[in-house]
Amino acid sequence: MNNFSFYNPVRLHFGKGQIEQLKQELPKFGRNILVVYGGGSIKKSGLYDEVMAILEELKMNVFEIGGVEPNPRVETARKGIEICKKESIDLILAVGGGSVIDCTKLIAAGAKIDEDAWNIVIKKVQVTDALPFGTILTLAATGSEMNSASVISNEQTKEKYGWGSPYVFPTFSILDPTYTFTVPKNHTVYGMVDIMSHVFEQYFHDATNTPVTDEMCEGVLRTVINTAPKLLEDLENYELRETILLAGTVGLNGFLSIGSRGDWATHNIEHSVSAVYDIPHGGGLAIIFPNWMKHNVSVNPERFAQLAVRVFHVNPDGKSAEQVALEGIDRLREFWNSIGAPSRLADYEIDGSQLEVLVEKSMVNGPFGRFKKLQAEDVRTILEMSL
Ligand code: NZQ
Ligand code: ZN
Repeated sequence: MNNFSFYNPVRLHFGKGQIEQLKQELPKFGRNILVVYGGGSIKKSGLYDEVMAILEELKMNVFEIGGVEPNPRVETARKGIEICKKESIDLILAVGGGSVIDCTKLIAAGAKIDEDAWNIVIKKVQVTDALPFGTILTLAATGSEMNSASVISNEQTKEKYGWGSPYVFPTFSILDPTYTFTVPKNHTVYGMVDIMSHVFEQYFHDATNTPVTDEMCEGVLRTVINTAPKLLEDLENYELRETILLAGTVGLNGFLSIGSRGDWATHNIEHSVSAVYDIPHGGGLAIIFPNWMKHNVSVNPERFAQLAVRVFHVNPDGKSAEQVALEGIDRLREFWNSIGAPSRLADYEIDGSQLEVLVEKSMVNGPFGRFKKLQAEDVRTILEMSL
């Protein structure tokens, strides 16, 4: 393992009815609260009313900003920042999926600086403070509810980048599986692909001797694979939603990369694709990840073979590590196809016409990926395999 220092201050309130915890959490910070939410799913589900009733009971001064886009835009965060400054907001409450939480993180940090928020995203400005914020998660996918990362898009320049800071860990997060009952089938699939992809990004790392985190990663993957088909047949099943919700949080709260640093190249390539084409993040990952794997099997065939045997139950007898590895990748592709995830960019009507733009956007900070450093020609090959 690599040496490490681990820090994660997020208080999780997990389970049915945990929204009641708002009554203990919110009064700690002051009365002026900004509620951030997305395109309306929380109004349809009744969660918006539930939250507002509690805020009224607590006599909070409520401000709100709705309409946060999937692939949240810096423009929306700017509007939130303006409200924070004008109304002396004390704390923010994000109610929604990863996009709402990521946008909230930028609002929280942007409220403390005079510069434009995009400068935070492109790391021109260092974050040294942020408003406190809590989250009520409604979609299992990103792990944003328990990490300090945020991914923001700029519609004008067609850019999408991740940024992070220890100042933007949520103070608390409320995870009630019943709030995820209404997530439609397609977003449930994208969420599960995203969760598995986070595990893969961390499984393919730059360290040696990582048996504890290997087993943790493999356990999360097996759990999602076993649960996914049942959940898609029964979207309002509490126990299945509960399992996936926890998998999403554990998948990207730092535990799985204790002692190692994950690859993250596939996420970088996907962010370029969704910057240009605005496709769902999980959909893009389902298309690209198996191709990243195929392209990089030779870097460490034994590691891919371990995954194939332990997670995809490939029989290794009489086969080379590379053969076992490739069989495992095929089984991943088959599994994602079986739950209805897309497998080609053509599924989103994306052709090769912007391929060089995608390569260029992916390479904006130079070669990337820790398991295997990708050059422009690697990115081009992976994207061509994905068409
Ligand atoms: O906007 P609303 O109306 O709420 O609808 C959303 C949205 O259309 C809907 N939804 C969410 N909860 C629902 C629901 N619909 C019905 N019932 C519910 N309970 O689902 C749609 C997608 O929501 P979104 O928040 O965009 O999905 P997700 O959580 O997958 O977040 C995706 C974003 O997170 C970034 C992605 O790049 C993408 O921009 N990521 C953030 C990460 C992080 N902060 O650590 C890591 C990830 O790798 C990822 O890159
Ligand atoms: Zn992701």
